[in-house]
Amino acid sequence: MINIIRVHNYDEASDQAFALMKQYLQPGKVLGLATGSTPLGLYARMVKDHEENGTSYLEIKTFNLDEYVGLEITHPESYYAFMHRNLFDHIDILEDNVHIPCGLGEDLEEKAREYDEMIDQDPVDVQILGIGSDGHIAFNEPGTPFDSLTHITDLAESTIQDNCRFFDNDITKVPKQAVTQGIGTIMKARNIILIATGVNKAQAVKDMIDGPIDEACPASILQKHPNVTVIVDEAAGSLLA
Ligand code: F6R
Repeated sequence: MINIIRVHNYDEASDQAFALMKQYLQPGKVLGLATGSTPLGLYARMVKDHEENGTSYLEIKTFNLDEYVGLEITHPESYYAFMHRNLFDHIDILEDNVHIPCGLGEDLEEKAREYDEMIDQDPVDVQILGIGSDGHIAFNEPGTPFDSLTHITDLAESTIQDNCRFFDNDITKVPKQAVTQGIGTIMKARNIILIATGVNKAQAVKDMIDGPIDEACPASILQKHPNVTVIVDEAAGSLLA
């Protein structure tokens, strides 16, 4: 059953997410992290809490959801760079404890398998998720099997077009593939916190919570997870029963 927390706006959603996250900011915990605009407010609160309260990440591990294929980690649009810019560079986490799927070099499928093995050894205590307006979680677009593990995936044409603005408006520079945790990987997390704000997420939120469990809406599988909290603002929750 999905536990729903309704808030007014993005700031309150970030406050709620941080309040839930805070209980996992302890030695030995494993955090599952996402990129995108949704978790930025949460990460800002984690940085502030580290600075003001000295919350330490020295004995915390993290696993990110996804990364582009073929993009150097030094590229500002890589998820590696995103995570360092917005969180890791501002807390005392050890680089060895940071895990981001590898999208560079040979044998990416083999590296993807190894990523799942690492997660199996250090199961995620709490996974942060955003949701796409088509119901995707991580880079698992509609139609992705619910039992998928970490894998290489082609980006949807619409995603490639959307991303063009981050790559000098030059479509040839936009990554066409990504490596992503699968839906089966994400479902192994012990607890999941999904944040959805803004009216363009409203239909996806409705399909996730009120709709059938169907691969057409990847996030609908969360109805089967034992411990999911969805934080929605007024706009994203506007179509809910
Ligand atoms: C990011 C990710 C994506 C985003 C989703 C929402 O690691 O896996 O699924 O969570 O696309 O993106 P934003 O937050 O930018 O609306």
